[in-house]
Amino acid sequence: MKKLASATDPLWYKDAIIYELHVRAFADSNGDGIGDFPGLLSRLDYLQDLGVTCIWLLPFFPSPLRDDGYDIANYVDVNPSYGTLSDFKAFQDAAHGRGMQVMIELVINHTSDQHPWFKAARLAPPGSAAREMYVWSSTNKLFEGARVIFTDSEKSNWTWDVTAKAYYWHRFFSHQPDLNFDNPQVMEEVLKAIRFWLDMGVDALRMDAIPYLVERDGTSCENLPETHLVVKKIRAAIDAEYGNRLILAEANEAPADVRPYFGDGDECQMAFHFPLMPRIYMALRQEDRQPITDIMAQTPAIPDNCQWGLFLRNHDELTLEMVTDDERDYMYFAYSADPRMRVNAGIRRRLAPLLDNNRRRIELLNSLLLSFPGTPILYYGDEIGMGDNIYLGDRNGVRTPMQWNSDRNAGFSKCDPARLYLPIVMDPIYGYQAVNVEAQLSDQSSLLHWMRNMIALRKLFQVFGRGTLHFLSPANRKILAYLRDLERGDGTHETVLCVANLSRFAQPVSLDLAGQNGAEPVEMLGYVPFPAITEAPYVLSLAPYSFLWLELQSPGVRPK
Ligand code: NOJ
Ligand code: CA
Repeated sequence: MKKLASATDPLWYKDAIIYELHVRAFADSNGDGIGDFPGLLSRLDYLQDLGVTCIWLLPFFPSPLRDDGYDIANYVDVNPSYGTLSDFKAFQDAAHGRGMQVMIELVINHTSDQHPWFKAARLAPPGSAAREMYVWSSTNKLFEGARVIFTDSEKSNWTWDVTAKAYYWHRFFSHQPDLNFDNPQVMEEVLKAIRFWLDMGVDALRMDAIPYLVERDGTSCENLPETHLVVKKIRAAIDAEYGNRLILAEANEAPADVRPYFGDGDECQMAFHFPLMPRIYMALRQEDRQPITDIMAQTPAIPDNCQWGLFLRNHDELTLEMVTDDERDYMYFAYSADPRMRVNAGIRRRLAPLLDNNRRRIELLNSLLLSFPGTPILYYGDEIGMGDNIYLGDRNGVRTPMQWNSDRNAGFSKCDPARLYLPIVMDPIYGYQAVNVEAQLSDQSSLLHWMRNMIALRKLFQVFGRGTLHFLSPANRKILAYLRDLERGDGTHETVLCVANLSRFAQPVSLDLAGQNGAEPVEMLGYVPFPAITEAPYVLSLAPYSFLWLELQSPGVRPK
């Protein structure tokens, strides 16, 4: 008998609304300045009310925290700062009780150098199984085709270890040695960790840094066939024992290179759409839909059981690895006036500050996030328009405490403010007195209320998560218009027309909707009937940065 996850539909992730958060940043229950599982549990009402259906937890395992927990020292426990395994379980049971799924991190490309495996490996004789848990070399000239990812902090992917008297390989920080997937013992240990969490009831795993699992000389050491074999083995092992689980691939690669991570539906069910994200920001700043339509044209079809993961921002920098040099220059110019806003090949800012705190732009981008083909992923705090702190190091500026109210420490913790794991944002525009959950809950026209309404609306229409996409090509390129369509079980169609104005000025648009002749559009937010579609071009006017979602109903359905 397979052990089933909490969701009953095996394709549950297609209809999900994912909310990404760090336990440390969300709510502190015991006043030590660090968020924890009991704190998160106490805030589940908030998440349920917002309408999210899946909570993605950033790494919460024991760790020296030199990469915010992506440097794992023990795969099968909880960092004591965040609580205990039973605190995790209590949180997970409560989430499941509310019909929410739980996604955790599977960081298997590397461990912390404080993991007992690495401590043992550097002491073990060369060639021994313990040593071979990691990738060693007597020279740093191997794998020279592999790029450095953390360009601001690392010069090489090799670091000399004085104890081992050899170089070890690391694609990220030098304190994150890469595991050696050529050693079968690594796979065994990884599977043990996976079973530990899936037995506990975890629904989904985000596979971190997946393109770099295996390295071979003379290649870029990314997306190798051997890496795909590892992923297929993990998926097969999960499918053999468990049901209704999900693997989400973190592969920051061009669309054609991400496609193989879906395999024939036998690798990851989901993968982030990294290249789309910066193009949304480009299209907005250029007031031109082309960056979006171009990247979508390059996006291959994926197997039926698979899904794209869509996001506007996350816990990392807004990555510009998957754009051309010219596009990167443009993005830096347009979105990071202060060099402090840049880190590695990206921009370390939150959604609201990136969009100059312009409510209409924030709504427009969220409307795309919620209506494009895929599953939307929201980053904690962006639903209230939280700001960032560019004076904090690395990516910490977008990882500050959640702003709950205008009390001490934004209601995040009762501790001495000096003790907080990171300072609360306090500037006059984005500071906790101006931007917080409590204030927005009591303001019917707040961004939070708007997000909640939009999420609720999206959940009423399966077409958003499961339907096809067809772009229209009106002459006015400031307008992005597309049809989403889903054939229901009874042969009828759920069809939605989305029209977005990327410009800061009002725009007219004339749409060729001849294929929809006779359909009666209904504006979905207000259930407002629009003129029926005829053979003639369908003409609309859109206010600056506005968007329309129109359900195309068959003639006669609409109440007269
Ligand atoms: C990707 C994660 O999103 C990032 O935060 C981390 O630093 C690297 N992987 C290394 O694990
Ligand atoms: Ca705490």
